[in-house]
Amino acid sequence: MNGVDPFEKPAPARATGIIRMPVLRARGLVKTYGSAGETVRALDGVDIDVMSGGITMVVGPSGCGKTTLISVLAATLDVDAGTIEAFGESLHDMDPEAKTTFRRRNIGFVFQQYNLLPGLSAEENVEIPLILSGRPRRAARDAARAMLVRVGLGDKLASRPSQLSGGQQQRVAIARALVHQPRLLVCDEPTAALDGDSGRLVMNLIRELAVDPERAVVVVTHDTRLYGYADLFAIMSDGRIAKIARKEEMASSAAPEPHP
Ligand SMILES: Nc1ncnc2c1ncn2[C@@H]1O[C@H](COP(=O)(O)OP(=O)(O)OP(=O)(O)O)[C@@H](O)[C@H]1O
Ligand SMILES: [Mg+2]
Repeated sequence: MNGVDPFEKPAPARATGIIRMPVLRARGLVKTYGSAGETVRALDGVDIDVMSGGITMVVGPSGCGKTTLISVLAATLDVDAGTIEAFGESLHDMDPEAKTTFRRRNIGFVFQQYNLLPGLSAEENVEIPLILSGRPRRAARDAARAMLVRVGLGDKLASRPSQLSGGQQQRVAIARALVHQPRLLVCDEPTAALDGDSGRLVMNLIRELAVDPERAVVVVTHDTRLYGYADLFAIMSDGRIAKIARKEEMASSAAPEPHP
């Protein structure tokens, strides 16, 4: 790349552009960990709208509640108080079984710790969301392979997570989250283990999904090189959303420092 930062400024033609409508509305989210004596209020009254057709980036210092927030938005963690409407359905009213079904149909999650199943190969890991949604085995296998090729792992289909590098495992996790084209994609530090080229490849795949006016993407990141991919920023501090900012505002914001 001749010294050019590969994350810098996505090409305008591929930018996500205007984001459209709120597909997810959360109000008054409170989440406390621990029990009497030692409790941490990880979410302390969060209100947030996630818009379709774009990428919302959640930023803020370590421990401010980013992972907790996106786990709640992705319906993998229950709150103590608050409401969430996602694609017209009330997540807070669903019983666990309905929530699981909703999650399988609608949500892709890239976890900070990848959460790959250690006993399964890369392609078997990526097939999981398709099999759970009833896709025939052969079609699931073909789609999983194609997705792994797209993230640059066509030569690692049969490898177990323990045989892969951190960055390769992260790409398997991203392939797994993208393979069923979820309506809501939630990514926790999706490029933390990736070099510049792999990070750019992954962000371009994520953005491809995000431009769909019916879909929405939320990305948690500490990596300021990704800021060019965002449409909106939710800046968190101490369990709250301190500010919602547009990309232009982030350039002059006192929040996270720009990448050198
Ligand atoms: N399972 C848990 N039990 C107890 N406390 C927890 C648990 N998970 C998170 N916390 C606490 O809740 C707060 C928010 O944690 P969270 O993981 O959401 O932060 P984060 O913003 O994602 O941080 P990082 O950038 O380091 O990933 C922190 O103070 C953390 O110590
Ligand atoms: Mg986190």
